[in-house]
Amino acid sequence: MAESWTSGYVTEVGYQWGYFPELNPMRAKIALPCSGIACPEIKHACELGFGQGVSLNMHAAGSEAEWHGNDFNPSHAIAARELAEHSGAMVRATDQSFAEFRRREDLPQFDYIGIHGVWSWISHENRREIVDFIKAKLKVGGVLYVSYNVYPGQAGFIPLRNLMMEYLDRISPSGKGMTARIDETLEFAEQMIESKPVYAKHYPAAVKRLADAKTQNRNYLAHEFFNRDWHPMSFLDMSRWLDEAKLGYACSANLLEQLPSLTTTQEQREFLESVPDQMLRHQIVDFMINQQFRRDYWVKGARRLSTAEQMKTFNDLSVVLIRHADDASLTMKGPIGEVNLNEEIHKPLLDFLCGNKVRSIGEIIRKLQSDKYTTVNLLQALLILMGDNQLAPANSNPSAKIRKQCERLNRFIRNRSRDVDEINFQASPVTGGGIAAGRIVQLFMLALEDKAGTDEELARFAWQCLSARNQRLAQDGKPLETEAENLAELKKRAGEFLNKTRPVFSALGIQ
Ligand SMILES: C[S@@+](CC[C@H](N)C(=O)[O-])C[C@H]1O[C@@H](n2cnc3c(N)ncnc32)[C@H](O)[C@@H]1O
Repeated sequence: MAESWTSGYVTEVGYQWGYFPELNPMRAKIALPCSGIACPEIKHACELGFGQGVSLNMHAAGSEAEWHGNDFNPSHAIAARELAEHSGAMVRATDQSFAEFRRREDLPQFDYIGIHGVWSWISHENRREIVDFIKAKLKVGGVLYVSYNVYPGQAGFIPLRNLMMEYLDRISPSGKGMTARIDETLEFAEQMIESKPVYAKHYPAAVKRLADAKTQNRNYLAHEFFNRDWHPMSFLDMSRWLDEAKLGYACSANLLEQLPSLTTTQEQREFLESVPDQMLRHQIVDFMINQQFRRDYWVKGARRLSTAEQMKTFNDLSVVLIRHADDASLTMKGPIGEVNLNEEIHKPLLDFLCGNKVRSIGEIIRKLQSDKYTTVNLLQALLILMGDNQLAPANSNPSAKIRKQCERLNRFIRNRSRDVDEINFQASPVTGGGIAAGRIVQLFMLALEDKAGTDEELARFAWQCLSARNQRLAQDGKPLETEAENLAELKKRAGEFLNKTRPVFSALGIQ
C-alpha cells in the first residue's frame, strides 16, 4: 500500500458507521453556557476525519448550517457524499489530507470545528496541520470540539499495544488481510499474557483491555490499535498544542464531567481546592477518574456570560427526553461509579418531560423551582440526564427544510438496511442529530410504510427481509435456527417497537 497518502494510517479496512452525539453543535450550545461561556450561532461547521460520515450527515441534515468535512480515505468520502446526496443537506465532503485541506482558499471561516477519534491516531506532522488549520479557519469566538486518548488512563496499555504493533509489522504476513492479521496478533498477545509476565500483575487493566479487544469489531480495532501512530497525551500537553491556535479550554463535552460531585470525592475536592492553578486542577481530575478518553470544547477567545445573560441563554434553550418514560432511570454510571439520582428533584423533572415533549429550560425552571430546589440544582439535574443520554438538547421548532433533510436521509438509511446492518441511527430534526435505531427497528419502520400495522405483520415483514438474504436473528450470541423461533423473537421486538420506540420517534420527528 502506498505510504504517500496514508501517512501510516490504516486504510485497508473502512471505519465503523458510528454516530457521536458529542459532535452535535447543539450540545455545545448547552455545555458552554453551563460553564459561563457564550456559544456562537453556528452557520459554518466543519468535521475533520469524519470516517464514514454518519455524524457529519446527521448534523448537516438536522440543521441549516453549511457543513464541510474532509477525510483522506476516498472510500469514506464517497460514503459520506452518498448520504449527503440523499438528504439534500448542505454538506461538502472531500477526500483531502489535512495538509491539502488546510491549504484550500475557498473555505469559509468556521464557527465550529469537530474532530472525534482522530487526534491521538495521527502523526506529529498531521497534528501540526490540524492546529494550523484551526488557527487559520476557526472564527474568533468559534468552538473546537476534540476528543483524544489521555494519560493516566492509557499509560499501562501503551507498551502492550506497541508490542502488538511490532508483531503485526514483523511477523504477521501483510498478504493475509488486516482482519486475519489482527486476530493473529491478538492471539499472540494473549499467549504472552498467559505465560504470566510480571507486567500482567502490575497492569491488570491492560490485560482486561486485551481480553475486551478480542470481542470488538475488527474494523474498529484496526483504526484504534493498529495504526502506525497512537499518541495519548496529557491534558496540559494538549492545551499547549491548542494554545498555538489561540484556543483556551472551555469545558468537557462529557456533561457528567462538568459536575464535580460525580467526578471526585469530598476528600479529593478539598485537595483540588488547595491547588492554585485551574488548568493543573483539570489534569489532576484525570488522575482522580483515571481518565482514558477526553472529549472537550475549546474556544478561540471566550466571551464570559454575566449571570443575567446566562439565565437568558438557558431560557431560550430547549431539551427533550430521548427515551420512553418507562425506560427513564434514576440510577446511572458516573465517572467514578454508580450514582443514585435524587428522586425528589428528578422524578418531577422526568414527569414534566414525559411524552417526549420539547420543553425550554426556562419553562422547566419556572415550573419546578422551589424553596428547596434552585435553578442551579435544576440545571445540574438536566446536565446529569443529558450526560446519561436520557435527554438531549432540542430545537423547539425545526424548519420544514430540516424536517425534509432528515426524512430523506432516514428513508435512504432504512432502505439500505434491508441488505446491510451498518448504520444503526436515524436523524432527528428535533435533536439535530442521530438517535439509535438498529437494523430490525428500521425494518419495522419499512413495514409500517408498507401498510403493515400489527406486531405480527411487522415481524413477518422483517423475517421476509432476513430470510431472503439467508440471515437469522441471534440470541445470547447463538443464531436462532428455525422460522418459528425467529418470528417469535421478531414479534416480541415489534411489540416493544410499537409501544415504546415508535411514540418516541414520532415525538422526535423521525418518520
Ligand atoms: C479513528 S477514525 C475516526 C472517524 C470518525 N471521526 C469517527 O469517530 O467515527 C480517524 C479518521 O481520520 C482519517 N484520517 C487519518 N489521517 C488523516 C489525514 N492525514 N488526513 C485526512 N484524514 C485522515 C481516517 O481516514 C479516519 O476516517
